[in-house]
Amino acid sequence: MTGNNIIDDVVGGPVRHIPVMLNEVLSCLQLSRDVNAVVGSLKIVDGTFGAGGYTTAMIEAGADVMAIDRDPNAIRDGASLVKEYEGRLLLVEGEFRYLDQLAQENSFLPVDGVVLDIGVSSMQLDEAERGFSFQKDGPLDMRMSRTGVSAADVVNTMQQGDLTRVIGILGEERKASQVSRAIVREREKLPFSTTLQLAHLIEKTLGRRATDRIHPATRTFQALRIFVNQELEQLGEALFAAERLLKAGGRLVVVTFHSLEDRMVKLFFKDRSGRQEGSRHLPLVNHKDATFATHGKGLLKAGRDEADMNPRSRSAKLRWAERNETPSGKMDMSIFGLPNLVSLDSLQTVGGG
Ligand SMILES: C[S@@+](CC[C@H](N)C(=O)[O-])C[C@H]1O[C@@H](n2cnc3c(N)ncnc32)[C@H](O)[C@@H]1O
Repeated sequence: MTGNNIIDDVVGGPVRHIPVMLNEVLSCLQLSRDVNAVVGSLKIVDGTFGAGGYTTAMIEAGADVMAIDRDPNAIRDGASLVKEYEGRLLLVEGEFRYLDQLAQENSFLPVDGVVLDIGVSSMQLDEAERGFSFQKDGPLDMRMSRTGVSAADVVNTMQQGDLTRVIGILGEERKASQVSRAIVREREKLPFSTTLQLAHLIEKTLGRRATDRIHPATRTFQALRIFVNQELEQLGEALFAAERLLKAGGRLVVVTFHSLEDRMVKLFFKDRSGRQEGSRHLPLVNHKDATFATHGKGLLKAGRDEADMNPRSRSAKLRWAERNETPSGKMDMSIFGLPNLVSLDSLQTVGGG
């Protein structure tokens, strides 16, 4: 994922994160990389700035962009782009669940498009000290915003039963109880402080066959990352925030890499496009007026060429829909059926933040 030249032309210099399904994102937002087809100044909110791959391409295609990232490092590294695109890029440190408030506070209205590219960036994965990778030794951190409860706090303080649920549900780890039992036993001897300490314990506990496609710690690390950053809650709230923010005819485009997240986006568009299913013999209960229209399936996947070039794109799913004139509905997180997990705030912050 690193050091690849294919996006040098997109962002004007070497960057480490390869934007996934970039052409599809642009076309769903009604933007084009063909300079002759520049459509004029659309206002787009990029909720996940990262290395600025989408943002830069959108600006080059004629849009003005307000980009958000909760990671202070991403904001720091994006300062040069703000300078380069004088007046066309507003870069804001914050959480995308507040994207409508952030746009209002910055008078970035009306908004023609919102794009979200869910997950971690290659920079976050590559930097050992961020603690996202089980392949590199670093502090067991995983906090995108660098504040609050860290992954070490979770494994050192969470009750075993809660840990089993987090690892089982968010990591889809079938052997979650074996992992959490081993964690609790280990932390009594020596609290967790590093990524490799946890990765080695999981490898020892679950074993590893030469034929295994993924490292045995993959699922547990994924679960801890999603939990520490409250990624599902953030995504759900951001979808409603985009509904409140977008003008009629505006597009919401979401790229996900994880089945739980894709399911949320699918459920949201189903709920908001009036496609709830019920019995045809019963009156529709809680019928909501549609606020979005989907076209076709509203689902795109990476093409073969991109999948060959960038393995990360193979699991990407892009869903999009168009906002209509109906006023936004109430935020109803129950449509996602999110798992009932222990609250992050109830855990102690031991590692500092
Ligand atoms: C996959 S990367 C985005 C890459 C970007 N599209 C590009 O082309 O460079 C995801 C980024 O979203 C940020 N992020 C994740 N969750 C967030 C949230 N709730 N609020 C704001 N930023 C978030 C991460 O810090 C990370 O930088």
